[in-house]
Order: sequence, then structure tokens, then C-alpha cells
Amino acid sequence: MKTAFITGATSGIGKEFAAKFAAQGYRLILTGRRADRLRQLQEQYGPECRAIVTDLSDESQCKKLLRDVADERIDVFINNAGFGAAGSFLETSLDKEISMVKVNDIAMHILFKGILRKMYRQGNGSILNVASSAGLFPAGPYMATYYASKAYVTSLTRAVARELKDRGSRVYVACLCPGPVNTEFNDVADVTFALKGISAEQCVAECLDGMKKKKTVIIPTGQMKLALFFQRFAPQDLLIRMVGRQQKKKIQR
Ligand SMILES: NC(=O)c1ccc[n+]([C@@H]2O[C@H](COP(=O)([O-])OP(=O)(O)OC[C@H]3O[C@@H](n4cnc5c(N)ncnc54)[C@H](OP(=O)(O)O)[C@@H]3O)[C@@H](O)[C@H]2O)c1
Repeated sequence: MKTAFITGATSGIGKEFAAKFAAQGYRLILTGRRADRLRQLQEQYGPECRAIVTDLSDESQCKKLLRDVADERIDVFINNAGFGAAGSFLETSLDKEISMVKVNDIAMHILFKGILRKMYRQGNGSILNVASSAGLFPAGPYMATYYASKAYVTSLTRAVARELKDRGSRVYVACLCPGPVNTEFNDVADVTFALKGISAEQCVAECLDGMKKKKTVIIPTGQMKLALFFQRFAPQDLLIRMVGRQQKKKIQR
């Protein structure tokens, strides 16, 4: 039986990945801070689900999580936990931003490296780092730290994917770069989407299709693919101004 390890499985995209892998007969290892939700998921999936309560903003808990799964064979790792925050950089909370960088980047990095080394020794496996379309734009005024944190995820993933190909490794790594997805993300980030969001179900279905095709950068929906394709030809200053205008709309609603 194959095992899927998913962080941030208590809601949204991570929870949907858990449902999809369970339906494919995978054993699950799920994490999140909300113990009640993890308990519900364990009840739902039964003995083939291991739940680990952990706060990934704490580096020592990230390292402990790696020790907790050290004896497990992991076939798929969905490095998904993350959150956003909006507002003008002059006014946003430093503590919240530090926590965001810790979860979106430090925890993502620690777990990516730990599980990658494990899979490299195994000789196979797949890792999906959940980034965002935000990580493919040059910058995102009024959501500046979130955009920067996700640029880290896309850059790191693409570099490591290249290194693995150079070594002829069968381990596959990719990053998921969706636009707006209807999850609890908005409540946490305290924003309203300026663009219409897709369902977590559609996001995950398109992502799994991209993983089957071994794409390194997976962008759900044709509309977002097109937007990200054409942004390459736009002057960077103009693009940053346009992104800023969209982000500002979110916080003004
Ligand atoms: N929704 C979107 O529009 C969108 C678009 C592009 C990318 N993304 C990315 O997709 C990923 C999943 O987000 P989502 O949209 O599914 O949002 P969500 O519904 O808010 O889910 C976020 C998940 O991350 C976990 N998490 C957050 N902080 C954590 C912490 N300190 N320690 C451990 N777990 C933590 C949450 O679990 P607990 O609260 O139980 O800890 C939850 O399971 C994120 O990386 C996000 O940046 C989302």
C-alpha cells in the first residue's frame, strides 16, 4: 500500500488531496494544528490514516515531524501548509509576517529537504510543494510578504527539480501555482478575492493531472496559464502596478 504524507490537511487544498489519495487506496499521514479536525479525518479514513498535530511555525516541531515519519515509507509528499496576509507593508503585523515566512518557507524547506533525502535513498517518490501563482509574478504590492514567500517556493522547487534531472534521479518534484481557490485561505488572510476562485476539488484534480504528466510547475485553469504566459512580455513595473491594484481591491472590500 502506498503512503501519501500531507501537511495542512485540516482544510482546503490539503484536505482535498487527502480525499483524492484515500480514494486511490493510499494510506494517509496528515498534519495540522487543529486536533479536533485531525480526529474527524482519522475517524473518516480509519486505521489507514495517521494524524500528527504539529505547529509548523516552530522549527523544532518541523524537525520532530521528520523524526516522527523517519520509519515510514513515503511515496507522495504534499508540502502544503501555508497562509497569507494582506495590507500595506508599512502597517502589516511583523509577528504575523515572521510566522508566515516560518510556515511558507522555513517549514516548507526543512520538510522538502528531509523528505527528498529520504526519497532519494528510496530511489523514487513524488513531492509537491504548494506555492501559488503569486510565486510566479515579480511582486505583489499589498500582499508583499506572501508573494515573496511563494517566490521562494517556486524558485527552490525549480532549481531542485533541475538538480534531480542532472543526477538522473527518479524522484519527481513539482510546485503547484494556483490562482484563487475557495478555501479558508481568505478568512485567514483577511481578504476577499478580486477574481473568482475555483473549488479545491478542481484545483487538486488539475494538479494530479499535471503530476501524472511530470510537470515541474503546475498551474490550474487555462485562464491562469494564459495570464502567467503573457505576463512574461509585459514591462515589470506595469505588471507590479497591475498586481498591486488587484490586491488593493481585496483589502478595500
Ligand atoms: N486558497 C487560495 O486561493 C490559494 C491559492 C494559491 C496557493 N494557496 C496555498 O495553498 C496552501 C493551502 O491553503 P488553503 O487555500 O487550502 O488554505 P486553508 O484552507 O486555510 O488551509 C491551510 C492549511 O495549512 C495549515 N496550517 C496553517 N498554518 C499552519 C501552522 N502554523 N502549522 C501547521 N499547519 C498550518 C492549516 O491547518 P491548521 O489550521 O489546522 O494548522 C490548514 O490545514 C497554502 O500554502 C496556500 O498558500 C492557496
